[in-house]
Amino acid sequence: MCRVVLRRKPSSKASARRFSSILSGEKQMARLATFGALKTHAQALGSTTLRALFAADDSRFDRFSARADDLLLDYSKTLLDDTALDLLLKLAEEAGVTARRDAMFAGEKINSTEDRAVLHTALRNRSGEPVMVDGEDVMPDVLSVLDAMADFADGIRSGDIAAHDGQPFTDVVNIGIGGSDLGPAMVTLALSPWHDGPALHYVSNVDGAHIADTLDALDPATTLVIVASKTFTTIETMTNALTARKWIADTLGEEAVGAHFAAVSTALDKVAAFGIEEDRVFGFWDWVGGRYSVWSAIGLPVMIAVGPDAFAEFLEGAHAMDRHFADTPLKDNLPVLMALVGVWNRDCMGHSARAVLPYDQRLSRLPAYLQQLDMESNGKRVQLDGTPVDEDTGPLVWGEPGTNGQHAFYQLLHQGTTVIPCEFIVAVRGQEDDLAHHHELLVSNCLAQSEALMMGRTLEEATAQLAARGLSADEVARLAPHKVFPGNRPSITLVHDQLTPFALGRLIALYEHRVFVEGVIWGINSFDQWGVELGKELALALQPMIQGKVSAESKDSSTRGLLKALRPQG
Ligand code: F6P
Repeated sequence: MCRVVLRRKPSSKASARRFSSILSGEKQMARLATFGALKTHAQALGSTTLRALFAADDSRFDRFSARADDLLLDYSKTLLDDTALDLLLKLAEEAGVTARRDAMFAGEKINSTEDRAVLHTALRNRSGEPVMVDGEDVMPDVLSVLDAMADFADGIRSGDIAAHDGQPFTDVVNIGIGGSDLGPAMVTLALSPWHDGPALHYVSNVDGAHIADTLDALDPATTLVIVASKTFTTIETMTNALTARKWIADTLGEEAVGAHFAAVSTALDKVAAFGIEEDRVFGFWDWVGGRYSVWSAIGLPVMIAVGPDAFAEFLEGAHAMDRHFADTPLKDNLPVLMALVGVWNRDCMGHSARAVLPYDQRLSRLPAYLQQLDMESNGKRVQLDGTPVDEDTGPLVWGEPGTNGQHAFYQLLHQGTTVIPCEFIVAVRGQEDDLAHHHELLVSNCLAQSEALMMGRTLEEATAQLAARGLSADEVARLAPHKVFPGNRPSITLVHDQLTPFALGRLIALYEHRVFVEGVIWGINSFDQWGVELGKELALALQPMIQGKVSAESKDSSTRGLLKALRPQG
């Protein structure tokens, strides 16, 4: 059962107090002591290798892997042992992972700096149980927006909701950025075999090139524009939305605008002010973070593309992971185990990055999506109470799909001087039954990479291989060092049966909860994003300087010099 419990709402002041100092002094001491013990143990383990651990224990895979139905997490190629895992599980308990997880599912205001609940899990709650926020069950509203989305999506797909001149819509342009773009764009691509609705296009960048190139290829008469913004104030989205509005009005007439626009937002008053008709506005709530919003009305373009049934399966998959996360003991809990591997690699092994490497072309936007999810959530430097963190927090997250990455940056992964833990994702089966040989090659490449990273190739092995090719002793000695792979480079592998809407929902929810658990262990608030504010403020102040309307005298010499270079001449 998903832990959505009916409870009296604590006053926001009380909940903020509770979560700003979630750990008692005693627990905080215990947490720090366990971190210390983990680091000491990591140093001791530093003299062993993954090769040696596997050689010593043929059951290592069984002991360091876990499953949730067909989803397998293999973390045996991480340089940890039973002692390390026990200590990491102890750390999770001491950091309050269980209590904070339950508080999140129960709708408590764990986002203490914004005084908000964190309830993306309610958006995919399929249990029929209520979810309470501020003493009210949010599920009736959640389900009613999903119904309204389904009616709208069906209408667009069937042509019942038509363009101004009565033609069916052939294209949908989603205008949004960050969480209002990355999630739906990634999911639309991932679910392309289910895509039987109008063509989808995503415009995010304020660079005019993005919207110009997109609109140039489209016929305004059959294009629907969705403006997606949680706040409806984001300058990039508002600028692109106005450009799209002008495109429709200039080509079809002002009277066509209503039929060609829809919006998704929590700020319904601002949407109304923009002029989008009420029955075309789909709301969500402040307890949905932008980077956690693909399950909300932000998923509307996905629903239009794949239909409400496939979208419901997507939500089901996420709900299945929510239940796994809520109900499974920590030692078998996939998001918890992935988080523990993350904390171990980051804080005990000192690895400052991780690469996400889906062996699935349709997941090619997943690394970008996870960049926001992970780095905007856990790129933090103070704890809940405002004091500096005592450990390094979120790593750099990046990646590309395999096998493409193999022919680009894997050289550095294998032989560079920086160790980057890798996260491989691969399905047992592809979607293309008639191209099974492609999938065999994809899978064999994926396995080969994690094996090569782990095993490496010693100087002796390189020497023997070159000698076997009949090279002279001098040539062998000259080339052998270049052919050495240090190995001992950690990776995890996620395997699922097939990339379906259900599996995709489950995979994204797995990563969401992993990020959550890591944040709890680091004692930070994973749900705010103050770090994006300063740049936004400065950009607003710089625009009139670029226009030459305001003096740049107050700026440093570099900014002044760049302004001068960038100011259009004439
Ligand atoms: O600037 C960061 C951010 O606030 C993200 O957190 C968010 O996903 C994105 O901008 C877009 O915000 P909005 O949906 O309000 O336009």
